[in-house]
Amino acid sequence: MQLQLQPSTEIVQMLNVSSSARGMAPGLKSFLVQLLAVLLWLMLGAPLLERAQVSLLPLQHALCAGGVAAALGWAWNLPRWWLPINFFFVPGLVTMYSLDLAPYWYLAAFALLLLVYWSVAGSRVPFYLSSRKAWQAVAERLPPAAMVADLGSGLGGLLHFLAQQRPGGRYVGMEIAPLPFLLSWLRMQLCSGCYEIRWGSLWHVDLQPFDVVYAYLSPVPMAELWRKIQHEMRPGTLFISNTFEVPGVEPNEVVQLDDLHQSRLYVYRLGGGDRVI
Ligand SMILES: C[S@@+](CC[C@H](N)C(=O)[O-])C[C@H]1O[C@@H](n2cnc3c(N)ncnc32)[C@H](O)[C@@H]1O
Repeated sequence: MQLQLQPSTEIVQMLNVSSSARGMAPGLKSFLVQLLAVLLWLMLGAPLLERAQVSLLPLQHALCAGGVAAALGWAWNLPRWWLPINFFFVPGLVTMYSLDLAPYWYLAAFALLLLVYWSVAGSRVPFYLSSRKAWQAVAERLPPAAMVADLGSGLGGLLHFLAQQRPGGRYVGMEIAPLPFLLSWLRMQLCSGCYEIRWGSLWHVDLQPFDVVYAYLSPVPMAELWRKIQHEMRPGTLFISNTFEVPGVEPNEVVQLDDLHQSRLYVYRLGGGDRVI
């Protein structure tokens, strides 16, 4: 379903408030939820039980903290599929600790996370993937034989999909995290170079040659990214952002996707006086 928005200033302001709240990545929300849940349980729940002379095992405490986390996640409108993650996170940690695993397992897990979430501390753009419905909506908006960039291309899913669906185009991804880069590079080899993948920062790529630029990042870089886009992209080309709006700029089209996250694509056509709201 596609929505053509021409909202009044008041509605836009309301949308901006709600979209900035909605724009926080679910992973970040979940992290905050976990912190708050553990603090609430340790400072309120556990002392109350102690006063009532109820003693619990560590795993039972962890399950209670998990229950608080799930409730907080629900109250904060996290997508439903995050709620079991919120519930089982602390119990999972306690269980792992009680398994008495050899330290190198923790080191291996840490190394794996580092290879995937390499740049998060600096860029505040975590790793999560667009849905197939988002890929399809992007494919439907490509001009013939388009040159397309996916800024922060993850596992190369969008590029691979476009190369299959729209074989006349040229598809280029930039990815900074080593493991996603490596996996998308292997995938590119398997499809005989049906797309290109570059290891490095999206900030170092000249966007001038691209007809369509796609990004699924976070609220943090959007204002700076828009400045880069306006500076480098040609009039008439498209910038499509999954989930995160460019602050203060009215999109030409908003595409509501019926996917797991009920994501939206914000489509901006460059040139012709980008409307600042
Ligand atoms: C939310 S994921 C989106 C992945 C993919 N575009 C998709 O839609 O499925 C964002 C990706 O951007 C990458 N990333 C973050 N900062 C980056 C940067 N400065 N340069 C290149 N990639 C970056 C992350 O490693 C992550 O893989």
